[in-house]
Amino acid sequence: MKLITCLIIFIATIGQTVDEQRSGTVLGNPRTEQTKRDRFVPGELWPDTDGNPIQAHGGGILIRGDTFYWYGEDRTPGAGTGVSCYSSKDLYNWKHEAVALPHSALPSDIRGGTFIERPKVIYNPRSGRYVMWMHLEQIGYRFARAGIAVGDKPEGPFTFLNYMRPVQDDIGYKVADFCRQKEFGGTYRDMNLFVDDDGRAYTFYASEDNATMYIVRLNDEFTAPETPMIENKTWARVLVGKSREAPAPFKFKNRYYLITSGCTGWRPNAADYAVADNILGPWESKGNPCIGEDAELTFHSQGTCVLPVPGKAGCYIFMADRWTPSLYDSRYIWLPMIINSEGEFTIKWLDSWDLSYFNRRQ
Ligand code: GAL
Repeated sequence: MKLITCLIIFIATIGQTVDEQRSGTVLGNPRTEQTKRDRFVPGELWPDTDGNPIQAHGGGILIRGDTFYWYGEDRTPGAGTGVSCYSSKDLYNWKHEAVALPHSALPSDIRGGTFIERPKVIYNPRSGRYVMWMHLEQIGYRFARAGIAVGDKPEGPFTFLNYMRPVQDDIGYKVADFCRQKEFGGTYRDMNLFVDDDGRAYTFYASEDNATMYIVRLNDEFTAPETPMIENKTWARVLVGKSREAPAPFKFKNRYYLITSGCTGWRPNAADYAVADNILGPWESKGNPCIGEDAELTFHSQGTCVLPVPGKAGCYIFMADRWTPSLYDSRYIWLPMIINSEGEFTIKWLDSWDLSYFNRRQ
């Protein structure tokens, strides 16, 4: 009897693809029996349609037609950090499309010791290409560069183009700055991308060693800053000296909104949201949008992006990461947000919810 069981397990194992094994029992995260999902359960293990835990940390969502693409950090142990791409039609069930940018696609001069954080992808209608920006980092967090890659399809493969610090201005960085900002420009860490209604794209990022948020308009291809770079015309320093990170921008009725976290590494802290009539500022802080128990810890998570719900004006999903010490099994916190007639909103904890939540809007 025992021999038969062993034989069955052996045959089943050799039948697995590398991708299937990637998930798994090896990592202590056994695949879950998959049933079609019809709700969000914040903080619960979220398997993809193959039953593997979704690996898309610090992520963002691109909408193309009726398909959502979720990109994020693939922190599968042993794989370096790559950028994963999942697709969904309903936001609950996600198919693993590909590792859109594997770690091996980083240029050889920086590949060793460099990892990828918070990748985001936008579509450029002029070039017809998908453009990915990411925070490239090394141990010690001194590298702090933007990485840029392009692809012809949402799922990639993406080709790495360049790495840089977008703003080179000397705004008084000290020579001894451990991030070498005088030499290389303002640091580029927690980041996001935003495409405005006029088709212009921006990168938002924590700069000046995370003290100040920068907003930089991109060129026509979205692959570099727009030049010539002119402060307060093509780029701006905002939330100056406020030490905010994890920027999650969105727009509603000609007003810009920006949810950020504080700077406490992987440990959660209170979120804040700021509003502006002009994307380059001034930005006015409105305080913590989270309410209820654990609101001051963003429900034990840190924001990563805000997804506008298609066809539902004023309705958004706040996406956040509940980081764990091992990072790869960090959980996802998705919660609904509805902007009221005064342009205000709150985020409250829900154990479970679905998109019909937005039908109840007043
Ligand atoms: C967080 C940041 C993460 C990661 C981490 C490293 O504050 O949001 O993306 O960079 O610090 O400590």
